[in-house]
Amino acid sequence: MSLNVLDHPLAQHLVALLRDVETEPGAFRIAADKLTSLLVWEATRDLPMVEGTVQTPLEITPAFRLAKPIAAIPILRAGLGMLESVTTLFPDVRVGYIGLERNHSTAIASSYYRKLPRVDDCVSLCLDPMLATGGSASQAISLLKEVGATQIKMVCVVAAPEGVARLTADHPDVPIFSAALDRGLNDHKYILPGLGDFGDRLYGTF
Ligand code: PRP
Ligand code: URA
Repeated sequence: MSLNVLDHPLAQHLVALLRDVETEPGAFRIAADKLTSLLVWEATRDLPMVEGTVQTPLEITPAFRLAKPIAAIPILRAGLGMLESVTTLFPDVRVGYIGLERNHSTAIASSYYRKLPRVDDCVSLCLDPMLATGGSASQAISLLKEVGATQIKMVCVVAAPEGVARLTADHPDVPIFSAALDRGLNDHKYILPGLGDFGDRLYGTF
């Protein structure tokens, strides 16, 4: 299993803010944005580089640049809360959208939208803050593979062991980057202790 849990005091501080039931949508959005920057920093640590040269004002020196384009694919709607930090870090990122919504009684996600860029030549970052049963993430990654993605990383904020197990079984080639690994799921397939419904907290839809 390739699960990477962020180990950094600032990440834990931001997770505490997101978990806090008193955190209002404005502060929630800011914390989610900052935390995603840390997660993406970690998830892109092994990006392939190409060696070349650069002319400084004084001389020519060896220089390394990113070898592959980056694609970011937020799963709507909660994944949108993770997008801006990626576009800030990687301004030329290609962005695709996958719309998935869990059925309230079955917790099975159904697809309602898809618009994807070319991904076969990219490192793809699949963005979804909550890895609960893992059904949404697994479905999204299958879609990305169908359109040619080969190097995919899953970036989430809170993961449940059930979601990690499902994703590892369905897509063993996809490493998971999370800010927290929680205890498990409740009867409604919400993560415990979790932070509630990420989309609702981000957008104030209660
Ligand atoms: C939430 C969350 C994930 C999914 C995780 O989305 O943003 O996409 O649930 O659950 P899973 O791992 O069990 O599939 P939701 O369906 O509530 O839609 P929303 O983002 O529009 O709120
Ligand atoms: N989706 C959420 O937003 N929160 C959970 O705990 C599980 C799924």
